Amino acid sequence: MTKHALITGVTGQDGAYLSQLLLNKGYEVYGLIARRGTDTQGRLRELGIADQVRLIDGDLIDLSSMIRALEKSKATEVYNLGAQSFVGTSWDQPLLTAEVTGTSVVKMLEAIRIANPEARFYQASTSEMFGQIQESIQSERTPFHPRSPYGVAKLYGHWITVNYRESFGLHASSGILFNHESPLRGTEFVTRKITLALARILHGQQTILELGNLDSKRDWGFAGDYVRAMWMMVQNDQPEDYVVATGQTWTVRTFVEMAATHAGFKLEWEGENENTQGIDRNTGKVIVKVNPAFYRPAEVDILIGDPSKANQKLGWKPEVDFERLVSMMMEADLRRVIS
Ligand code: NAP
Ligand code: GDD
Repeated sequence: MTKHALITGVTGQDGAYLSQLLLNKGYEVYGLIARRGTDTQGRLRELGIADQVRLIDGDLIDLSSMIRALEKSKATEVYNLGAQSFVGTSWDQPLLTAEVTGTSVVKMLEAIRIANPEARFYQASTSEMFGQIQESIQSERTPFHPRSPYGVAKLYGHWITVNYRESFGLHASSGILFNHESPLRGTEFVTRKITLALARILHGQQTILELGNLDSKRDWGFAGDYVRAMWMMVQNDQPEDYVVATGQTWTVRTFVEMAATHAGFKLEWEGENENTQGIDRNTGKVIVKVNPAFYRPAEVDILIGDPSKANQKLGWKPEVDFERLVSMMMEADLRRVIS
């Protein structure tokens, strides 16, 4: 029998890759879509699947639309990926973030209890919940200390998922995913901001790339690998929580250097902290500059995840390494800027 899945956040990076994965497995894929803009399906189109995903109007702050989406889709698997997901914005819109990223999770869980308590549920939790890290390598057992309104909202989503599993026996799993990127990453996130800017600078459409904290470190993986982990969690008989990560960490500075090398710049750094500049030795031009406007009120300095549980219990491991990820993103933006 054909499986039906409902994905919230279907127009986002992960929503697009997960839709592709599920379609390839023969699922009927339904996506909850909040029609705010005119062109929201760009990523689904880029993967060539826009006409295969069935869209249902709805919003994460509207419980009734979630119940309707569950009824219409007849979903037996629900992947809750929708969120205000940009950490920086969460200081400017903390209340919206609390609702869309935090309390909407209990609405979706309630919708499941009302419409189909047998449906399996995946919650998109995050390494941002570790924030000011309490252990040098973070696992499912590491205590949380979120550093942003986004991280605090996600922590609510995480615990309410655990609570509904324990209270009502729902098949609800929470994936604590570390940063994952791709050519479909939003341009506000640092990796894609870097690759797009370098491609534009190379082609004379932009002069400089301004960044904030170059020293912050992230455990960056490839989104295509991470949506596979989501699906594996939902297939497992036992609903549980899993860290999904590569186990390696890199600075923003290293990301810039690798991407610049891939694009053909000879990058050298001068100055320290707020005066840091990245100069292209080919041309003598400053192409990267630190701008404190991009610093955050409270930073997550470093994240490194331990994916052993996902590896042992689900058989999951990442296939794309950091270098391949950077080159994949750089190449995609070079192609986009030229065309
Ligand atoms: P994304 O590209 O920012 O996608 C977010 C999605 O949520 C978009 O489809 C967006 O729709 C939708 N959305 C926002 N507000 C909504 C609302 N009120 N009602 C319905 N839909 C709404 O994020 P992503 O990178 O794919 O991440 C997917 C999920 O994983 C998010 O929950 C994120 O917080 C979490 N996560 C991401 C990472 C990562 O590194 N990527 C790591 C850990 C956890 P519009 O396009 O219409 O705005
Ligand atoms: N966005 C951005 N822009 N970040 C910058 C910049 C800049 O100009 N300069 C330096 N950074 C630093 C940020 O301060 C942060 O330390 C790091 O780059 C990564 O920032 P983002 O790419 O915005 O991602 P994030 O780690 O804050 O959040 C992402 O990962 C989380 C998982 O850990 C998002 O995808 C979240 O939704 C996700 O939960």
